[in-house]
Amino acid sequence: MSTLRLGILASGRGSNLQSIMDAAAAGKIGAEVVVVISDNKDAFALERARRAGIPARYVGFGYYASKDDYERAILDILRQNKVDLVCLAGYMRLVGRVILDAYSNRIMNIHPALLPSFPGLHAQKQAWEYGVKYSGCTVHFVDEGMDTGPIIIQAVVPVYDDDTPDTLATRILEQEHKIYPEAIRLYAEGRLKIQGRKVFITK
Ligand code: GRF
Repeated sequence: MSTLRLGILASGRGSNLQSIMDAAAAGKIGAEVVVVISDNKDAFALERARRAGIPARYVGFGYYASKDDYERAILDILRQNKVDLVCLAGYMRLVGRVILDAYSNRIMNIHPALLPSFPGLHAQKQAWEYGVKYSGCTVHFVDEGMDTGPIIIQAVVPVYDDDTPDTLATRILEQEHKIYPEAIRLYAEGRLKIQGRKVFITK
């Protein structure tokens, strides 16, 4: 089986990017990161890519007349690099039509809560404030909504009485770093079947 070519979109520190690069470099997921793109020129994710010898590209939203134009610039980079699967890893924008149409069912995201609970920003704090006893993280395919696409895998973590949003976020992040590479591996193995809202993992 040929190696799956990953393009990562990240806006921030890039710890999920790192976990994917590490798993890929270790030959664990049948995939390689071929380009990292950020809408934030100072994103540490770009620095992590450079350190790993992976092309790191900044695409500033403000330089384009429209979101479509901005996404076309990203799409050009994805296509130049023959990206098979797009992974959002702390990418702080909603993906629009241009990229969704070109990569239909080939975009994943990780979210730090058990969707459909607590979509959007600061999900760990939302869960902590709500008082849930368990939270976790979700890898899902991306559609036009905010954290609404078909769910691939989830991991659950307990919430303790003495947690703060930060300690809970740290516990969730540990699981993120496991399930994101795992979801990519399943995709690379051709084992994810989407039927409507559901994703089945075949043997
Ligand atoms: C993670 O919590 C991820 O679930 C969310 O954004 C955060 C990104 O963190 N989508 P990092 O940049 O991967 O460290």
